Amino acid sequence: MNNARTIGVFDSGVGGLSVLQHIRTALPDARLIYVADSAHVPYGDKSPAYIEARSLALTRFLVGLGAEAIVIACNTATAAAAATLRASYNLPIVAMEPAVKPAVAATRSGVVGVLATVGTLESARFAALLEKYAGTVEIVTQGCPGLVEVVERGDLHGSEAKHLVERYTVPLLERGADTLILGCTHYPFLSPLISTVAGGEMTLIDTGAAVARQLHRRLQEEWPGRMPAKQAAVEFWSSGDAAQASRIISLLWGDTVVAQRLPPEFA
Ligand code: DGL
Repeated sequence: MNNARTIGVFDSGVGGLSVLQHIRTALPDARLIYVADSAHVPYGDKSPAYIEARSLALTRFLVGLGAEAIVIACNTATAAAAATLRASYNLPIVAMEPAVKPAVAATRSGVVGVLATVGTLESARFAALLEKYAGTVEIVTQGCPGLVEVVERGDLHGSEAKHLVERYTVPLLERGADTLILGCTHYPFLSPLISTVAGGEMTLIDTGAAVARQLHRRLQEEWPGRMPAKQAAVEFWSSGDAAQASRIISLLWGDTVVAQRLPPEFA
């Protein structure tokens, strides 16, 4: 019998796997269901209303499969839809946003660069985050069209990935940034490349581990006395082509997995 509690995790595509890895480590006995909304990636250039509708559909799907908590493993979807999801579902909903607070604490040069989607950078939520935490630190933002797509193709070291990383990172270095916020869950997969371009002195900050810790804390409060289970299953779904999703997820997850295609009413 499976006592595992179920956590649903979603992203516009495979980026949220960078968060799922931390969740798996923090909560090995939870059943995890991951949805990559590959048919609709990228979210970064879509309207908030579009992303909100997708987030509601994916959450409905995850709850239908038994999810008792939701992780929005996507900065762009958090900005567009976290408030609506929280108003619509009486479940723990853990969301993520660019790590401005830790980056401001970490910088020595007083300049922090933010790599994120245009959707995240233009959101009211991001403006509020800067207002709250930037203080006297200069925050230089950089939208990164095309970067999500290279990760979706599993092209983590190719010439296009390198070209885009240089194009987006070098101007931030020239402005004096010594700390870079990876404000999109796809970007941690490009960390080795970003570090190579930016140099070893640059501090890269992403939010995956912090989100997993927050989820763990929240679920300890919500689910006291849970039966410990053996390492529970991780299931993968995609709104796009299942074979393609299986290939890329296996590459990024580091294990061979088979993704299933979302039923048409959710895709
Ligand atoms: N992984 C995403 C994020 O954290 C979404 C990127 C996109 O689809 O544009 O923002």
